[in-house]
Amino acid sequence: MASVTDRSVSPTAPAPLDMNGLSWVLFGHAAFQYLNAACELGLFEALAEREKTKKKEIREQLGLAERSVDILLLGCTSLGLVTKDGEDYGLSAPVAELMQAGDWQRLKDTVAFEQYVVYEGQLDFTESLRTNTNAGLRRIPGTERNLYFRLNENPKLEQVFFAYMRSWSELANRHLVEEVDFSGVSSVLDVGGGDAVNSIALAKANPHLKATVFDIPSMRELVEGKVAEAGVRDQVAMVTGDMHADEFPSGFDCVLFAHQFVIWTLEENTALLRKAYEALPEGGKVVIFNSMSNDDGDGPVVAALDSVYFAALPAEGGMIYSWKQHEECLRAAGFSNPQRVDCPGWTPHGILVAIK
Ligand SMILES: C[S@@+](CC[C@H](N)C(=O)[O-])C[C@H]1O[C@@H](n2cnc3c(N)ncnc32)[C@H](O)[C@@H]1O
Repeated sequence: MASVTDRSVSPTAPAPLDMNGLSWVLFGHAAFQYLNAACELGLFEALAEREKTKKKEIREQLGLAERSVDILLLGCTSLGLVTKDGEDYGLSAPVAELMQAGDWQRLKDTVAFEQYVVYEGQLDFTESLRTNTNAGLRRIPGTERNLYFRLNENPKLEQVFFAYMRSWSELANRHLVEEVDFSGVSSVLDVGGGDAVNSIALAKANPHLKATVFDIPSMRELVEGKVAEAGVRDQVAMVTGDMHADEFPSGFDCVLFAHQFVIWTLEENTALLRKAYEALPEGGKVVIFNSMSNDDGDGPVVAALDSVYFAALPAEGGMIYSWKQHEECLRAAGFSNPQRVDCPGWTPHGILVAIK
């Protein structure tokens, strides 16, 4: 069985499909609701307290009616989210491993994001494909041009989004920190750097390094709070601006795009990379860090599933593009010889590094 911490795990699409597989896809939305309810009700934490737990104990701890606990346990045991041995319930192996690895809250933040940000907008997936634009944005209150500019008007969504974004980054940015050589880099421009999660990780791992988050003005308070909390105010700064409309600031020898090139069209990605090329000195580095799909267009399945969100919701044109497509954008922007850095694990992350 694949372990959540196994570096050799590379999720692929199950094939060939049988009727059982088809029914999982058919009711996939309901499977997710069991996971979400179990997270929100604290089922996994209740099971983590003892090795074996009886239904009555679960019922009392969760404060649920008998029928409700029957439904929850029927779903969670049949999906394998929890184990059942006679009358005893327990944690499934991946949940126990995530807890042990300290990644459980990160998984729960991702579940909350799927439930509160992603789910509704995905109702417009077909319409998004038909119109080749993010039709699901209409489900997010506001009139601003994309999800990011609307988050500030929707505090609950904003909180759920950035808790997830931090957790999703942290599930994979250990590869960014460990596998990319920042020893010769003195200053990183972190374009669309969010709440500074990756700048902070890089700063902590490289005491010589300075990083600047370049994000929209509404992000300033969140970034400054996180930087102060992490104790890296002398290393991590922030500038505000619009990455599409404004020139990139100069004076940096590395430009990082973390979780950016899944949002925009390939043309926009190339334009952003051109700006990076212009802003960098000779020998400067560009680093792309986000989910990647296979060059053959057949997986991994998590990249395919996550592409529904990028097609339907955040901005007009995005998906989990392939490694090859990212490399073509890099070459069109002037960068030659991009290097691939694989990020083994259950998330479909990858890293590309290229030098000017
Ligand atoms: C998917 S999040 C990635 C955050 C962070 N890089 C990470 O990996 O966790 C995209 C970020 O891009 C920012 N962003 C979106 N449009 C932008 C624009 N036009 N100019 C600058 N930042 C922008 C958003 O505010 C958000 O913080």
